[in-house]
Amino acid sequence: MVTEEEKRDVVDQVLAEHVGLKEAHNNYLSAPDGAHKEAAAYELIKRLVQHGGREEAVLYPFIRSKLPKGKEYIDRSVKAHQELNEAMYQLDGMDYSSAPRLFDAMLAHIMKELLEHIKEEEGTVLPDLRAHVSRQELMDLNKNFKSAIVTTRPHPSAPREGFMAAVAQALSVPLDKVRDSIRAATRKGGESPAELKPELEHTEIQGRGR
Ligand SMILES: [Fe+2]
Ligand SMILES: [Fe+2]
Repeated sequence: MVTEEEKRDVVDQVLAEHVGLKEAHNNYLSAPDGAHKEAAAYELIKRLVQHGGREEAVLYPFIRSKLPKGKEYIDRSVKAHQELNEAMYQLDGMDYSSAPRLFDAMLAHIMKELLEHIKEEEGTVLPDLRAHVSRQELMDLNKNFKSAIVTTRPHPSAPREGFMAAVAQALSVPLDKVRDSIRAATRKGGESPAELKPELEHTEIQGRGR
């Protein structure tokens, strides 16, 4: 039997991950105390870094080469990703309890930037992609999208596109894994900071166009 996930094309996948990011933010907002807020924020950052990394590694080069407006779209998107990475880098490693208002404000800033970027991807870029590329090709692309090896922590000084971006991702992944395990071992907000399904398992698909 074919599962919902196997029926997805890359557009479905990106939309599902956007839903997951919004859910991660809701977990942050509803977290009962600072330790849980901190853990929920780090989970959101991790998901956003992975999502952005997959887009930069697989989706954006494809859009750049396939769509008439690809260069325009991706130049703008890469700039938005860079700004998000810089903001996440500032927040990643901050201690919620020592500056709760600043932490909240920085997280709110990241979400505002993210929602604007999502609005453009969902309102313009992804519909244009569906209009120009066959469903089969988008399904094939999703296999590469889901299997891309990406970092889990923000690296704002790393290249965002091209061969050097792939090299930077490959070099950073093992180091990020070590840093993630240290964070998990010292986590104050509990074992499960965000009661979220893994983002690749979301079944709510929005905007399936064809
Ligand atoms: Fe993006
Ligand atoms: Fe996205």
